[in-house]
Amino acid sequence: MPEQYILVEREDPIAVVTINRPDKLNALNWALVAEMAGHLETLDADDAIRCIVLTGAGNKAFAAGADIAEMSSASAIDMATGGFESWDRIRRIKKPIIAAVGGYALGGGNELAMHADMIVASENAKFGQPEILLGIMCGAGGTQRLARTIGKYRTMELCLTGKQITAQEAHDWGLVNQIVPAGQHLEEAKKLAREVAKQAPHAARFIKEAVLAAFEVPLQDGLMYEKRLFALLFATEDQKEGMRAFLAKEQPTFKGR
Ligand code: CAA
Repeated sequence: MPEQYILVEREDPIAVVTINRPDKLNALNWALVAEMAGHLETLDADDAIRCIVLTGAGNKAFAAGADIAEMSSASAIDMATGGFESWDRIRRIKKPIIAAVGGYALGGGNELAMHADMIVASENAKFGQPEILLGIMCGAGGTQRLARTIGKYRTMELCLTGKQITAQEAHDWGLVNQIVPAGQHLEEAKKLAREVAKQAPHAARFIKEAVLAAFEVPLQDGLMYEKRLFALLFATEDQKEGMRAFLAKEQPTFKGR
């Protein structure tokens, strides 16, 4: 399948991955999600990249959900065996990802934003899970990640009514890290990404791994897991450099070793 839906711009040590289907409000068809997963994996494997920004082309939408035209004629078997593998590949990316959301993040669009580790939203952003209005429900993790992020009752409200919430509401509910003036979401997300990219890469990777484990394992296991990763960082040169620089009252230079 020729690549056509995703743009990648490198600004080492960060990279911007853009969903480039603005005429369809960046609706996510299977080929698009597979293409995105491939680019994210390539960047994940590249030591020169330390943080990834994920955004949608245009100011109208991050992504208005899965592609309804494509889904409309799908069978249950298509849905059960189809492209959700690509979503799992995105879930497994180890480097920090920041979603820069301008306009709609609906359905699969909101679910994709929640695959990121932080969300920066334009003040005009709108979030929601409108699947119920189509007679279906979330399929890319919406019920699970929302419930773990904004709680049961707000998740029920969003998923059972299909209503959209504003960037301010999403921020108040803990779904968004920063609200920025309309159109500034990408620049502000890039600033945040550069801040993350300055840090020790192994520490950043293990932090992501440990925080995500908090959604999966009991507390006791999570605490053990964190302790192991913490100890492992003492095998890195960056741990020595970070502590040396602190004691010398200097800025550390992390090399990812
Ligand atoms: N799938 C396919 N095409 C879409 C789309 C989607 N999710 N969202 C928008 N589009 C297309 C429209 O069909 C339209 O295309 P044409 O110009 O060829 O007609 C174009 O994008 C522009 O959209 P609108 O004219 O509808 O723009 P609007 O400003 O009037 O409305 C909107 C914007 C409220 C976001 C509206 O487009 C909308 O409701 N979109 C659907 C949102 C939705 O239901 N998302 C959930 C999908 S299901 C899902 O995501 C399942 C899952 O969990 C994996």
